[in-house]
Amino acid sequence: MTAENPAQNAETTMILDGKAVASQIHSDLARGVQQLIAEGGRQPKLVAVLVGDNPASAAYVGSKARTCAKVGMAGETLRLSSDLTQESLESEIRRLNGDPEVDGILVQLPLPKHIDERRILELVAPEKDVDGFHPVNVGRLWTGEDCLAPATPSGIVEMLRRCDIPMAGRHAVIVGRSNIVGKPMAGLLLRESCTVTICHSRTRDLPAVCRNADILVAAVGRTAMVDASYVAEGAVVIDVGMNRVDDQDTVQRLYPDHEKRAALFAKKGYILTGDVDYHRVFDRASAITPVPGGVGPLTVAMVVANTLRASLRNQSRDIEIDL
Ligand code: GUN
Repeated sequence: MTAENPAQNAETTMILDGKAVASQIHSDLARGVQQLIAEGGRQPKLVAVLVGDNPASAAYVGSKARTCAKVGMAGETLRLSSDLTQESLESEIRRLNGDPEVDGILVQLPLPKHIDERRILELVAPEKDVDGFHPVNVGRLWTGEDCLAPATPSGIVEMLRRCDIPMAGRHAVIVGRSNIVGKPMAGLLLRESCTVTICHSRTRDLPAVCRNADILVAAVGRTAMVDASYVAEGAVVIDVGMNRVDDQDTVQRLYPDHEKRAALFAKKGYILTGDVDYHRVFDRASAITPVPGGVGPLTVAMVVANTLRASLRNQSRDIEIDL
């Protein structure tokens, strides 16, 4: 783990290294797949549906396919043109639902404007819904039943668990109420016996509410919005943001004297930043996730983990994986 904070306060602030945790998860998944195959099972398979050519979506889907390959699973991308009709996308989903070789289906979002996203997500068979977006999985998450849960919040819980950060009895404050992160994060942390508060753009005195957090999860999509005034001394800070910053003044302000970021900005014309003002929050936090290299790698690992879990269930195999 390397601190990029000039204060080098690594003795008191733990940097939560998502890449290292993802790599542990990959090893656990690879072991599970090996055991499944050794016991005569079928290789698990994930199909990611990519509609159109959004470069960010293509990059996410590519990393999911690569991670599948890394752990010994089949990862396919079904590339479809952005002008396809609702009916033809629905018929592709029905085909994947009916294919016994396919364990996991992931429809990469966002979909083109003319497609009814909700109808598509509701069509994915709940037992293959590795994103955990189907209402059946959403309901099961909140009733405490076994379910496929969304990957980003699942990855955060897994990281806290593997980094020995206690959750039971802690006050978790989540900033952001999206269906993909904020809401399922609340459900999963409640399962871990946290006391949970969800905040959003209409929350009164947001910094004061956030200062009550033992665990603060920022998932708003606004560069460096969470500054030191949001963070209590000793809080655990989880940054889900992944924002593109393309103006030099902001890069300078957020990362003064940070040569690596400056060089990256000079080369690419932008850098990726989180929702947390990392350098100004670092000294107050007991643990913090960097961006990139924090939550991001875990999202991918957990989609693949969900595919293995779906496959074990679909094949009625009782293999223990530590996830
Ligand atoms: N687009 C942004 N985040 C996600 C995600 O978690 N799953 C899918 N399918 N699409 C996304």
